[in-house]
Amino acid sequence: MSPAVPVGEAPLGSLVAPEPDERPDLWPSTLRRGADGALVVGGRSLTEVLADAPTPVLVLDEDDLRGRAATWASAMFEEFWPDYGMAGGDAYYAGKAFLTTRVARDVLAEGMGIDTASRVELAVGLRALEQLSRGEATGDVADEQGLDPAHATRLGLHGNGKTEDEIAAALAHRVGHLVLDSADEVDLAASAVRSLRETGEYAPDETGSVMVRLTTGIHAGGHEYIATAHEDQKFGISVASGAALAVCRAVVDAPELALHGLHSHIGSQITDLAGFREAVGVVLRLRHEVAQATGWTCPEIDLGGGYGIAYTGSDPVPPSPQHVARTLADAVRAVCAELGDAVPHVSIEPGRNVVGPTTITLYTVTGLKRVDLGDGARRLYVSVDGGMSDNIRPALYDAAYTALVANRRPAPGTAPVRARVVGKHCESGDVVVRDVDLPADLAVGDVLAVPATGAYGRSMASNYNLFTRPGVAWVSGGEQGWLIRPETLEDILRLEGE
Ligand code: LLP
Repeated sequence: MSPAVPVGEAPLGSLVAPEPDERPDLWPSTLRRGADGALVVGGRSLTEVLADAPTPVLVLDEDDLRGRAATWASAMFEEFWPDYGMAGGDAYYAGKAFLTTRVARDVLAEGMGIDTASRVELAVGLRALEQLSRGEATGDVADEQGLDPAHATRLGLHGNGKTEDEIAAALAHRVGHLVLDSADEVDLAASAVRSLRETGEYAPDETGSVMVRLTTGIHAGGHEYIATAHEDQKFGISVASGAALAVCRAVVDAPELALHGLHSHIGSQITDLAGFREAVGVVLRLRHEVAQATGWTCPEIDLGGGYGIAYTGSDPVPPSPQHVARTLADAVRAVCAELGDAVPHVSIEPGRNVVGPTTITLYTVTGLKRVDLGDGARRLYVSVDGGMSDNIRPALYDAAYTALVANRRPAPGTAPVRARVVGKHCESGDVVVRDVDLPADLAVGDVLAVPATGAYGRSMASNYNLFTRPGVAWVSGGEQGWLIRPETLEDILRLEGE
C-alpha cells in the first residue's frame, strides 16, 4: 500500500486535533460542540460569534481567563500562607503575553498583580488600577489591596535597557516590583529618586524599592530565543561571576534605594519543574550571601514566569498551578532550612499559562491545494485568511499548533488527510499549522479553530504586507465584545506622514 504521508512523518490520523472534551487543557474552558456540530464558546454559537467578529479573529473566553487568574493567585496564596510557616506568595500576570485594560482589570480583580515590560504596558496596568479603584470593575474584586495607582504595589516593571524616564515612572507610582537589570540601572534609579525627592513626590527620606534581576546560569525553555538565564545572553546580572553580589551591595549602600528582592526568570514554555527548583537554590543562596555581606536580608524573591502549556494533542498536560506552587514552596522551605534563613515572600510571573489556553483563533479556509510528494504521499495545503501577521510563533520559533474544523463535525467515516495550514503572506515560511490531519472533505468556506493562541499571538502581531491586525473578541455568559477592535485601513493611514 502506498504511504499517505512522507516517510518519517507521524502516521496519518495521529495529528487530528483533540476535541474539547478529549483535551480540556488545550481549549478555553467553556468551549464545546453545539448540537449542530459547530463550536460554542462563552455561551455563544460560532455563527453568533462570527456575526459580530468575522474571521480572522481571536476569541478569548473571559470566564476561563478569570478562572485561571484566580487559580494562580490562590495557589500562591495558599502554598505560601504564613500560617504554614511561609511568608506569603503572589502571582503577577506577565502582561507581555497579552494585555488590554480589560484583561488587566480581570486579572487584578481575581487577585493577581501585573508584571509589565514597557512604559505602555505599565500605563495600561495603571489605567486598570484607576478604573478598579473608582469601582468600574467587571465583577467582584477578590482583594482590594494594592489598587491605588499612587502605590501600585501589585504592578511590576522589568526589562533590560530601561531609560531613566521609565524607571522614574515606575518609582513615581511606587510599583511593587521594579526589577533593575544592570549596574547602570542602579545609578538611574538612584538619580530618579533624587529627582522625586526634589519635586516633593517622594518624602525627603523616602527610598525607591527595587529588585535585582539575576542571571542564574540555568538553561531552560523551549527555544533559544526564549531561554533567558544562561550566561551568554542579554538579561540580568551574573551570579556566578560575582557581579550580582556587587550590584546588590551597591543597592544596599545607595541611600536612595531599598533592596526589596531578587528576581529570576529562567525561560518560557517550560513543563519540567526541575529548572525552577534549581533557580530557587541559586536565588536563595545569593540572598544569603548578600545578607552576610551587608546585614540586609531581602524580604522577597520573584521566580519569574515560564510555565508551559499544551499547543497540540501531542504535548503533555502541563503541571497545574497548585502543583507548581507546592513544588516552589517545598524547594524554598528546604533551601531556607539548610541555610538557616527566614523564608522570603515569593512571587511568580506566569503569562502564557494564564492567557494562552483561553483563546482560539478562527480562520476561514480560502483555498486548497493538493501536492503530490511522490511515492503516493500527499499534502493538502490549506490557505486561510490570516497568517504570520497574527501569529509569528511558527515562523519565529518553529512552534507547533493544531487546528480543528469549527463550523461542523466532519461527516462520519471521513478519512483524514495530512495538511499544512498556511497564511496569505508573501513568504513560504508563512505557516499557521505545520502538520495537522484534517478531514478529507474540508472545503473553502469552512472555519478552522486554532487553540492556545492567547499568549504571544496578538501581542506579537505585525502589519506585514500591510495586513490589518485582527481583533480580539471576549465572550462570556452569552455576550460578546471587543478587547481589541480589528484594525482598519484608516488606522494604518492615520500614522502615515505627509
Ligand atoms: N517574567 C519575565 C521576566 C519574562 O521575561 C517573561 C517572558 C515572563 C515573566 C512570562 O513568561 P511566560 O510565563 O509567559 O512564559 N514570545 C515568546 C515568549 C517570550 C517570553 C519572554 N519573557 C513566545 O512566544 O513563546
